Amino acid sequence: MTEVSLRSLQKLYGKTAALKAISLDVTHGEFVSLLGPSGCGKSTTLKCIAGFEDITDGRICFDNKDISRKLPEDRDIGMVFQSYALFPHMTVTQNLAFGLEMRRVPKADIARRVASAMEMVQLTPYADRYPKALSGGQQQRVALARALVIEPAILLLDEPLANLDAKLRDEMRGFIRDLQKRVGITTIYVTHDQNEAMTMSDRVVVMFDGEIAQAAAPEDVYNRPASERVARFVGNANILDLPVAGADAQGTTVTLPGGTPLHIAPCAAPARAGAPDRLRVMARPEQITLTGPGLGQLPGRIEKRYFSGGHVEYTVATECGALFVTGPTTQHVSEGDTVGLSFDPARLWPLPDPAPERAQ
Ligand SMILES: Nc1ncnc2c1ncn2[C@@H]1O[C@H](COP(=O)(O)OP(=O)(O)OP(=O)(O)O)[C@@H](O)[C@H]1O
Ligand SMILES: [Mg+2]
Repeated sequence: MTEVSLRSLQKLYGKTAALKAISLDVTHGEFVSLLGPSGCGKSTTLKCIAGFEDITDGRICFDNKDISRKLPEDRDIGMVFQSYALFPHMTVTQNLAFGLEMRRVPKADIARRVASAMEMVQLTPYADRYPKALSGGQQQRVALARALVIEPAILLLDEPLANLDAKLRDEMRGFIRDLQKRVGITTIYVTHDQNEAMTMSDRVVVMFDGEIAQAAAPEDVYNRPASERVARFVGNANILDLPVAGADAQGTTVTLPGGTPLHIAPCAAPARAGAPDRLRVMARPEQITLTGPGLGQLPGRIEKRYFSGGHVEYTVATECGALFVTGPTTQHVSEGDTVGLSFDPARLWPLPDPAPERAQ
């Protein structure tokens, strides 16, 4: 187990800044996901850590030792690529043994370690098959076993589930997480699927445009996003822009259309200069309750209703704009119905001001 530290890590491709001085500490045995849209620098971060890309500036440390200039083979890393990158002309056994042979591990040890890795990913019956005779999920498990068999200090996974169908992806998520916990290996996992990042990680690192926007526990990223952009990227977010009626050390009171006051607890985000006259607050769809007409704090009308298995999704037209709300399937509300929306102020999250470039 190894601690990974990125210190002001910068990577330029010509004039493109793929990483703009990012800093991040991943502790021993931690499972951290890098989450962000295409092109935000997730793969570049992994490639720099693995040593497949030279860094432009900053440092990468493993257990406080600067390894920025070490060759990839000297970094003690197991990596799984999105494309699996299995050797097509080698059987499962040969694929797993390859890394150990390169490291000149004695033959008897190779056999033992390959058998144990194969067992770990439940592939023993497929030992003599070639990759093309395996399903996507099985190939993915071979790639995982091949990364783990060398017993690396750090495991890097770049969208390893992207090629799998939804059901297999769910299974493999649980599988990778259980395995990681059992082996206790420091893991950095890249995905652009927020659900995947939430369900698997100890900590989620949200990236935009080569920068870290927030690094926090999944619950915090979801319930206490650092910015509106994070709020919108991580799940569905209703943003209400409300007039401020008053503010003190205990928080801010805002007013809903119709005059109902809501008291919002102070935000962990940096305080704003001057006395703001409006506050933007976030409510997740499941944090708004649908009630009958005349009830709750904000009237609305059901515009759309979608049954989605475990719950129902509604788009509700209100004076605060269209809000996205989820409710139980036992509730009988139809399109066109007038409803009331009820907010729990304790679950409303005040957002900091929009990024300076938008305010200018
Ligand atoms: N070899 C390269 N040469 C030039 N530019 C590159 C190179 N590799 C990546 N980039 C650029 O660096 C930025 C970050 O790319 P990166 O591959 O890290 O994104 P990503 O977050 O992994 O995206 P995706 O989700 O699409 O895989 C992008 O703007 C990309 O075009
Ligand atoms: Mg990528």
